[in-house]
Amino acid sequence: PGSGTGTAHGKVILLGEHAVVYGAPALALPVPSLGCRARVACRFPGEGRVVGFRMVQLPPGVPSGPFLPPPHITEGPIPEGLHMVVSALLRRAELQVLPGVDILLESGVPPARGLGSSAACARAVTHALDDLLGLQLSSEAVFECVQSSETAVHGQASGIDALATGSRRPVLLAGGHVSTPAVGADGWIVVVDSGSGASTKEAVAMLRDSFAAHPGSRERFLDHSTALTLAGLRSMAGGRLAELGRRLTDCHQLLAGLGLTTERTDSLVDAALTGGALGAKMSGGGLGGCVIALAATEPEADALAALLLREHGVRCWTTRLVREAEH
Ligand code: PMV
Repeated sequence: PGSGTGTAHGKVILLGEHAVVYGAPALALPVPSLGCRARVACRFPGEGRVVGFRMVQLPPGVPSGPFLPPPHITEGPIPEGLHMVVSALLRRAELQVLPGVDILLESGVPPARGLGSSAACARAVTHALDDLLGLQLSSEAVFECVQSSETAVHGQASGIDALATGSRRPVLLAGGHVSTPAVGADGWIVVVDSGSGASTKEAVAMLRDSFAAHPGSRERFLDHSTALTLAGLRSMAGGRLAELGRRLTDCHQLLAGLGLTTERTDSLVDAALTGGALGAKMSGGGLGGCVIALAATEPEADALAALLLREHGVRCWTTRLVREAEH
């Protein structure tokens, strides 16, 4: 009998969401802020028990407190995507008799906001079982586990969430190839929770249907998105944050043209730009979810987050283009 723990964080997409599903480049940024993480503790409860699962979804943004809604607690059957991870890893451990496992998953990553919550949960479960079973999984094996769970949940997933929820640095995915892009100047991303959820699966399916109905539209979108993402990468590498910001806003307009934004996300983008952001956009699947905004310094990011909370009642996290450890 033993126990294992694992953790993973949320992510946002700076440029290239949706296009990445078709192999075009996309740039993701981890959001390892406190309160945007999934944590798992698991143990063998003893022989004869079936898998037990308890998920605590924390209210977004901050640890539980007296003025916040209570956490949402789910007990019972493990969700399909996570079940896949558990049975694959128990099989991999080559245990003669499959024992039961008790899993406690606590997540502050709000689901269905474009923050990669399903990938963060699957990754935290994978790490915890790896720890419990002593598998010493390679990072590729962990990715495969998380990605198979993502495919079960989303149908078609590019893999960018499975990668970024385990990375401390920005992640570039292009044509199935992963790399770490250069960051020439520090910058801060304010992640704004619009408060409304959306299904990535539905957004991806909606776009696929729309491309099928309008010949040529897919190629036009992919060309435009690729050009913006590559331009954004050059701006980021050269430390030209104002230019990077304009690319983000252009990307929002491109996605808006495809019907992926909502009145709420459009108005939060406008509010962020009016409030001094260098650029702002929806992030992830769209049809609601999160908006991100770029600020040059931490005080500017904090001021923007405070303004958005005060005037729009939205919760925000901040995350950094260059991580502390890299200095
Ligand atoms: O909404 P999220 O956090 O699952 O981000 C999805 C990003 C997409 O490009 C829309 C889908 C994908 O698999 O890359």
